[in-house]
Amino acid sequence: MQLYVCIFCPLCLHTCLVFIHETSDQSKVGSKSSSSSNPSTAKTGSTRSSWTVPSYKESRELPTPRTEGEILSSSNLKAFSFGDLKAASRNFRSDSLLGEGGFGYVFKGWIDEQTLAPSKPGSGMVVAIKKLKPEGFQGHKEWLTEVDYLGQLHHQNLVKLIGYCSDGDNRLLVYEFMPKGSLENHLFRRGADPLPWGIRLKVAIGAARGLSFLHDAENQVIYRDFKASNILLDSEFNAKLSDFGLAKAGPTGDRTHVSTQVMGTRGYAAPEYVATGRLSVKADVYSYGVVLLELLTGRRALDKSKLASEQNLVDWARPYLRDKRRLYRVMDSKLGGQYPKKGAHAVASIALQCIGNDAKARPAMSEVLEKLEQLQDPKYNVTAPQVDTKRASSSGSVPRSPMKAQPSPRRLSGSGSPLPAVAGSPLPACRTAQVH
Ligand SMILES: Nc1ncnc2c1ncn2[C@@H]1O[C@H](COP(=O)(O)OP(=O)(O)O)[C@@H](O)[C@H]1O
Ligand SMILES: [Mg+2]
Repeated sequence: MQLYVCIFCPLCLHTCLVFIHETSDQSKVGSKSSSSSNPSTAKTGSTRSSWTVPSYKESRELPTPRTEGEILSSSNLKAFSFGDLKAASRNFRSDSLLGEGGFGYVFKGWIDEQTLAPSKPGSGMVVAIKKLKPEGFQGHKEWLTEVDYLGQLHHQNLVKLIGYCSDGDNRLLVYEFMPKGSLENHLFRRGADPLPWGIRLKVAIGAARGLSFLHDAENQVIYRDFKASNILLDSEFNAKLSDFGLAKAGPTGDRTHVSTQVMGTRGYAAPEYVATGRLSVKADVYSYGVVLLELLTGRRALDKSKLASEQNLVDWARPYLRDKRRLYRVMDSKLGGQYPKKGAHAVASIALQCIGNDAKARPAMSEVLEKLEQLQDPKYNVTAPQVDTKRASSSGSVPRSPMKAQPSPRRLSGSGSPLPAVAGSPLPACRTAQVH
């Protein structure tokens, strides 16, 4: 069976959204032109002389397939010219580079808070400007998807999109600046200060809240690219999901999944989705479990610098998650043993449920969130002395920690590096592949 995803018509990129084929478990292939618009948000930011960032009022209005014109004009987003963003980022100077993802380079910039016109560096409001790599069609599609979703979804755990630029071939996005960057950088970048346990839990909770919001929306959204580099942190380590380029509308009616092209990031993508192209919110739950493992272990979802048998974090960590007495062996040594045993074990149990092979048996994000919130209770936060660590090193009968058995990791590339990330790179083979 050939499955296709919704794509934008290559012949009329600027106006047309076409479902070539979208199959689901119960529905069959359809082909339709987009038509619906969203009257409640029909106001273009570009026509406003004074513009302020929308408040954090939650909004659950979600995209139905719409034309590019409808998406751009109905969102309350500022339309920037390329010249504006060039000026705001000081000509995309390399020393303003904040990060690099699969589809774009992200630069720091400054704009006036009221008018949103470019301002002098250091004055006005700091923003993050994502400039798409010139990748043609796929890049354009992800850019538009991001405008579509982030233009309509507002929540304290989703990054705020301020505006966009569609000027000639240039496609850019302007976001609120997240001063502490991505979770990936904190966990894996060389020289980064280790994140204490309490912050890890806070980040996990914030990210779970963001995902829950998407999954429980009236029109469900599957995020599809949940990973450490897409979790951004504000000055107080509140987590916000960014990068909605792969987001997808969830199934409707009685359907449990949509079938679509396999996209995502190796190491984070759920096995059933990679194998069959069947996508449900439970694929996000799997990816969430992988990020929990990264928070617990300080290891990347996929690390090519390790022995073959230890490259995949899920495979490596799974045997240690169930048993309290074994868990310490995979805990991040950068925590220095400073974590509550009970709390860590509870997080490990949640992670284990999330990475279960049976998608249906994985918990809903709302359940995960509830459990994690309970762990903020002081009774879970007594940091036990490092009894286990000592035992591990002093007793010959306790097997060595698999963490310690590792050769020291090779240079890890973070998303801030101009070099391609090892584990964080999107699934290149799958991005263009159709599923058969
Ligand atoms: N709003 C922001 N504030 C600060 N840093 C950001 C922001 N947005 C992105 N970044 C940095 O840029 C990296 C890539 O951004 P992302 O949106 O994931 O791009 P891509 O779509 O190419 O994957 C992030 O991992 C992060 O380090
Ligand atoms: Mg990204």
